[in-house]
Amino acid sequence: MEQLLKQIEDHKKEISAFTAADEKQVEEFRIKYLGTKGLMKSIMGEMKNVAVENKKEAGQLLNDFKVFVEEKYNELKESTVNGQQSTANSIDLSLPGDNLPIGSRHPVVLMRNRIVSIFQRLGFAVAEGPEIEDDWHNFGALNLPEHHPARDMQDTFYIQQNPDWVLRTHTSNVQIREMEKGKLPIRMIMPGRVYRNETVSARSHCFFHQVEGLYIDEHVSFADLKQTLYFFVKEMYGKDVKVRFRPSYFPFTEPSAEMDVSCFICGGSGCNICKKTGWVEILGCGMVHPNVLTNCNIDPAKYTGFAFGMGIERPAMLKYGINDIRLFSENDVRFLKQFTSAI
Ligand code: DAH
Repeated sequence: MEQLLKQIEDHKKEISAFTAADEKQVEEFRIKYLGTKGLMKSIMGEMKNVAVENKKEAGQLLNDFKVFVEEKYNELKESTVNGQQSTANSIDLSLPGDNLPIGSRHPVVLMRNRIVSIFQRLGFAVAEGPEIEDDWHNFGALNLPEHHPARDMQDTFYIQQNPDWVLRTHTSNVQIREMEKGKLPIRMIMPGRVYRNETVSARSHCFFHQVEGLYIDEHVSFADLKQTLYFFVKEMYGKDVKVRFRPSYFPFTEPSAEMDVSCFICGGSGCNICKKTGWVEILGCGMVHPNVLTNCNIDPAKYTGFAFGMGIERPAMLKYGINDIRLFSENDVRFLKQFTSAI
């Protein structure tokens, strides 16, 4: 009995000192102490040599020892994960952390932010509106009644479940939504995604982005429109860029114009981008049509205003030298990660 006690004490010391660096060593422990040919088995075998009067005590002793070995085994198992020791005190706090990859902004967002921030400096606030729009806000209120031929200019996606709903064809719907709120004056810049049923190609897509501008107050004139847009062009394309307005037609503005800037690729001498004209069209604009004001319960005798709308993809393509509009929506990270500007 005494001998057994001594044996157990010695084994306990040995077992307490056992460490395992990986799962393999834990398994070695199991085989050595708990396996079918292991220590536990052989020491249990000693029972038959114990005198009858000591059997009860010895049985208790061996049971305790078994629990001790099993606990040690569980402890070793828990402390090794994937072959690595992972106890709290094995973490090296002096190691540098993992570098998280820095993301990049989408080129459309970069261009949108640039455009929006220029107008914000002039006091324009940012507004957004719905992409699924009713006929009234996308067309009717903008002086495009049903069967108006100008509706054909915009290849509209209709919503099957409700023929009164469309995917907005332009951001001009937000003008209407802002004017309807009845809070004047309005000085707003309205970025967003728009949809047109066009064949997808390198040059055109069935969805793209626009920025709409609207300024309504007493005594707003075409001169205000021109000065605002001159400021924008200078900030956006530089001081040397020339600007020209061409008379145009939009149902929601009167008079209407389109604005060109001298080609910032060739400087006006003529290239593929400007189709040898030396000019690039960048936006449509005009004085808000009195019918549009009336449709939004604004008195055209008291208030006037100007509006403009421009695409985002085209200036982004010119700025970043992108030759296929489809790249914007393919989410290829090899393309996207090239845009690291912080704006
Ligand atoms: N909505 C027009 C389009 O999508 C762009 C536009 C032209 C907006 C003139 C305006 C504007 O606000 O005054 O082509």
